[in-house]
Amino acid sequence: MMRDSARKVLEGIREEFKLSAADMNKMIRDFRREMDRGLRGRKSSLKMLPSYVTKPTGNEKGAFLAIDLGGTNLRVAEVELKGAGKEIAYRSKSFILKDKLISGSSGKFFDAIAEHLRRFIGRRDIGAGIPMKLGFTFSFPVRQDSLRSGRLICWTKGFSVKGVKGKDVVKLLEEALKRKGLGGIRVSALMNDTVGTLAARSYSDSSCEVGVVIGTGTNACYYDKRLGTIINIEWGNFNRMKRALYDRLLDENSGNPGEQLLEKSVSGMYLGEIVRLIICDLASRGYLFRRFSSTALIKKNVLKAEDISRMEEPGEKGLANADKVLRRYGMMNSTIGERSLVRQLCRIVSRRAARISSAGIIAVLKKIDPVFSRSHTVAIDGSVFEKHPNFAKEMRSGIKDVLGVRSEKVKIVLSKNGSALGAGVAAAISQSHSL
Ligand code: BGC
Repeated sequence: MMRDSARKVLEGIREEFKLSAADMNKMIRDFRREMDRGLRGRKSSLKMLPSYVTKPTGNEKGAFLAIDLGGTNLRVAEVELKGAGKEIAYRSKSFILKDKLISGSSGKFFDAIAEHLRRFIGRRDIGAGIPMKLGFTFSFPVRQDSLRSGRLICWTKGFSVKGVKGKDVVKLLEEALKRKGLGGIRVSALMNDTVGTLAARSYSDSSCEVGVVIGTGTNACYYDKRLGTIINIEWGNFNRMKRALYDRLLDENSGNPGEQLLEKSVSGMYLGEIVRLIICDLASRGYLFRRFSSTALIKKNVLKAEDISRMEEPGEKGLANADKVLRRYGMMNSTIGERSLVRQLCRIVSRRAARISSAGIIAVLKKIDPVFSRSHTVAIDGSVFEKHPNFAKEMRSGIKDVLGVRSEKVKIVLSKNGSALGAGVAAAISQSHSL
């Protein structure tokens, strides 16, 4: 049973994290303003970067290599498009990128990527058994001046490889491929993971004009008909939102204070940390875990988004998972009241994250089609959207709260592996344009 005082504190936190329909509407207005400013090249927290990728027709064909870089895993893949909007065939292999690599030197970093591709290819011949063209999904803010070149603006998601900022990442990758004896492979398209997600889904669904990723990081893109290209919004950096005390704490202690503020409230890299900060605060004020002196939870970033997802499983399963997670941090005999309080904190934090994402999506859709004159599919990839038990549901309910009956025109769908598949699609689009 939860004590009255704890209940009161919980209500306070709920209030601080609440994103009402009115709050969402305000965010939508501010977001649209920032989008327009960004597009006009004025100062804005939204970079609005042209991708040089158009929407596919569904008739593109061919086999391509793909590298998908940007989350916890590096993925290399071979993607085959059969035309007629048919399902895209692919095989892939994932590798975990070690902390040492993502904070080391540029040479070592790109060599490691090229080496993984070399192993994936194995003994097969480039050209004969293996495609020569490669789509490169690079999921960080990049200023592109063509489909196959782009300079890194800044790292996000804890990456800090030295000597890459300001450089053309396609060149860096191609140089590394050469060093590994893969000089015959040409990068024919560079893109953001959201762009890949949109390209992959719209290959077979022309009503899809928005791509979103909610995983380690978060971002969205949309097809801008007037400009004839997909625009990478870099929404993770949006900074005009209601923020809680814990958001400020997290930001101050992060590697990039003042940046990626929306991402820090939404994405998998930060969800666990927000919950951990609340738990530590409540524990220090005597509302939680008074009988324990565990110091494990004092360590930054120990609580992961996967833990949050597991604790939010419905009913007994979620309670049992909460017990398991808490035991891992030395809270061996937490009470049911404590476990249920922790689960409610998870719920509050992830619900807000889902509603922020909904508000972002509505703002983007309003930009494309202000009166919702037609139906829209929003393709979403990323571990949080895919694996969290309530996230998609909360997003749909957030969209309904704001749009009412018009929400029926908005379909949000999981576009699994979209970022890797899209690398192939974008490479194919570039090929069909150069024919
Ligand atoms: C990056 C985006 C990316 C997103 C999702 C963010 O941190 O800035 O470019 O699309 O993460 O991976």
